[in-house]
Amino acid sequence: MTQFNLVDIPINSLLKNEAAVKGSLVLITGGASGFGRLLAGQLAKAGASLFLVDLNEVALAALVAEIKGKGGSAASAPADVTSTDAQRSAFEACVKAFGRAPDIVYANAGVNGDDNFEEDDGGDAPQPWRDITYKINFRGMVITSALAQEFWAKSPAKAPRRLVFTASMGGVNGIPSGSCYAASKHATLGIWKGLADDLASGKLSGFTVHAMCPFFAATGILPAAVRFFLAGVPLVEVPTVSNALVYIAAGSNELGDDGAILIPDAGSPSILRAKDYDPLVQEFSDALDQRIAREKSNAAAGGWGQWFSDVSNIFNRTAAAA
Ligand SMILES: NC(=O)c1ccc[n+]([C@@H]2O[C@H](COP(=O)([O-])OP(=O)(O)OC[C@H]3O[C@@H](n4cnc5c(N)ncnc54)[C@H](O)[C@@H]3O)[C@@H](O)[C@H]2O)c1
Repeated sequence: MTQFNLVDIPINSLLKNEAAVKGSLVLITGGASGFGRLLAGQLAKAGASLFLVDLNEVALAALVAEIKGKGGSAASAPADVTSTDAQRSAFEACVKAFGRAPDIVYANAGVNGDDNFEEDDGGDAPQPWRDITYKINFRGMVITSALAQEFWAKSPAKAPRRLVFTASMGGVNGIPSGSCYAASKHATLGIWKGLADDLASGKLSGFTVHAMCPFFAATGILPAAVRFFLAGVPLVEVPTVSNALVYIAAGSNELGDDGAILIPDAGSPSILRAKDYDPLVQEFSDALDQRIAREKSNAAAGGWGQWFSDVSNIFNRTAAAA
């Protein structure tokens, strides 16, 4: 019988070790918006230095100015994560700005590129696949991971080194009508699991590897149509995800060298160790099903009131953005 552990972390204890990040240098891709943006601000407040990478140069500059304005330390480089050269230049810019390689690297930039197979299935001849999601969510994260290891190999460690991939619950469970996005996130978990196995066997060393798997949260990646579809379902709060990302940066015994964090609903995050991640093992499916079932009654309790409130928020946000 497989010994299975899915360890809950109470939401209000996610930041209990945040002081451990003081003095660390943290690189975040997709750092200009959503989870990455909130994470950057929290880490800076806790005393880490930030190097932010994103396509959105204007938002990057504004965030760096905001962090510095509050007494924090930050620099940035615009880069498209699908380009090895652009990401290499960003890592080099980080070394130039801070005199060393980043200690903690978040491969976080991602999109939902509207290139799921279902959207091309109009009954006509198949359209050429627009592989935007795969390129950013998978290729981009592989490049970030490879560069982190390359830069780490070139310089001695000053603080715990961690590589963190933002995957998704869609990478664990799949997403109806979201095949390519879900596949890109399964791939991300494949990188996490593979690196964790290499670290466990001693083939790799010198860093820990982690993954973050949230359910839907209201960031820029979630278009109004998807929010409408999800109305009435309690989403994960964005700060829960960024706090859980801070938890990873700080490290803990429960997280170990290879813990992923699952946030399958609006409840507490749970830690999944890489050795336990085997979707074909019944105990894994059972533990995940039980974890997901726990919040279903809360979702039902929201009822129509929650639905109306979510829909009116969508219209208010859309009107404010127009
Ligand atoms: N919000 C959710 O519901 C949700 C759920 C699970 C996982 N995720 C994942 O979380 C991560 C962060 O997304 P978010 O929710 O904060 O969304 P977001 O849209 O707010 O942030 C994503 C950031 O990535 C940047 N980016 C996109 N393409 C890029 C590229 N080619 N090169 C460099 N930067 C690029 C964007 O400019 C943006 O700043 C993504 O990997 C996403 O797939 C999000």
